[in-house]
Amino acid sequence: NLPTYVKILDVGPRDGLQNEKANVATEHKARLVAMLQDAGLREIEVTSFVSPKWVPQMGDNVAVMAAIARQPGVRYSVLVPNLKGLDSALASRPDEILVFTAASEAFTQKNINCSIAESLERFAPVIEGAHAAGVKVRAALSCALGCPYEGDITADQVEAVVRPLRELGVDAIDIADTIGVGTPAKVQAAMERALKHFPTAEVSGHFHDTYGQALTNIYASMELSVNSFHASVAGLGGCPYAKGATGNVATEDVVFMLDGLGIETGIDLDRLVDAGAYISGVLGREPVSRAARALLAR
Ligand code: HMG
Ligand code: MG
Repeated sequence: NLPTYVKILDVGPRDGLQNEKANVATEHKARLVAMLQDAGLREIEVTSFVSPKWVPQMGDNVAVMAAIARQPGVRYSVLVPNLKGLDSALASRPDEILVFTAASEAFTQKNINCSIAESLERFAPVIEGAHAAGVKVRAALSCALGCPYEGDITADQVEAVVRPLRELGVDAIDIADTIGVGTPAKVQAAMERALKHFPTAEVSGHFHDTYGQALTNIYASMELSVNSFHASVAGLGGCPYAKGATGNVATEDVVFMLDGLGIETGIDLDRLVDAGAYISGVLGREPVSRAARALLAR
């Protein structure tokens, strides 16, 4: 009873590029978004309205949002850590914002400079403001499968943050494996806690592929009927506050697996490979995606 349709949100322009040291020009970011939507992506995480001192690469957020050629039916999301971020984000007309905290105290401190409880307090007016503007709110729960500072994270710790996020009115939740240490049974245990509080359609898996487990973890999540996943074209990425973390699972690899399973995504793999090759060329490296490398070598 796997889902027949899976929704893929490409986080490449945001999660994929946020950790790049060299400045990536705004026009390349906008072109990447254009190529992703041409490949059939209907959900794209475009940029972050975070402090440019913390994440300089996302400092052109307003310019990127102005430069994208919006296509009807495509939803564009952005990260918002606080009210200051919300004000500038809303002026850029996103379809969705993402607030983000973690199942681990230590990571929350490193990433957003506050405790988990403080992050929830901070989100309350952000959620209210976004909803008042008619904008959907997702929340990412980082380190849901393990933390670079605290090690193991339990399903109880996951639920301890999922529950208050739902109570605050968040519409959707991303179970995020920031450092890619999750394995299938553990992923299912975390997903089950999220599914207790959010409708299935509003639960997503956001798996970094550091230990090569992401595709398996997507499959394990689909066994629970979860049908929304995040991926990064070409496998771009890494987290500035999780040393050694690699990018999200490559979108090309996810599409290749789902195509093989006969699960609909609406994505054209060849055009997606072109998008990954384009941005990898801008960065001066090969795509991390195994499927993309194989297809490019044909
Ligand atoms: P802080 O230093 O505690 O904030 O940072 P503050 O309120 O004390 O403000 C300090 C300065 O930042 C002030 O400027 C503010 O105006 C400015 P100054 O007076 O010094 O000139 N500032 C801002 N500027 C622009 N936009 C804003 C903003 N807020 C404050 N929104 C803060 C707290 C949350 C802002 C900071 O820690 C931050 O920006 N963190 C973001 C870190 C980040 O982007 N991490 C990566 C994304 S999360 C991720 O990748 C995980 C995910 O993929 C899931 C997973 O894989 O786990 C989602
Ligand atoms: Mg991430």
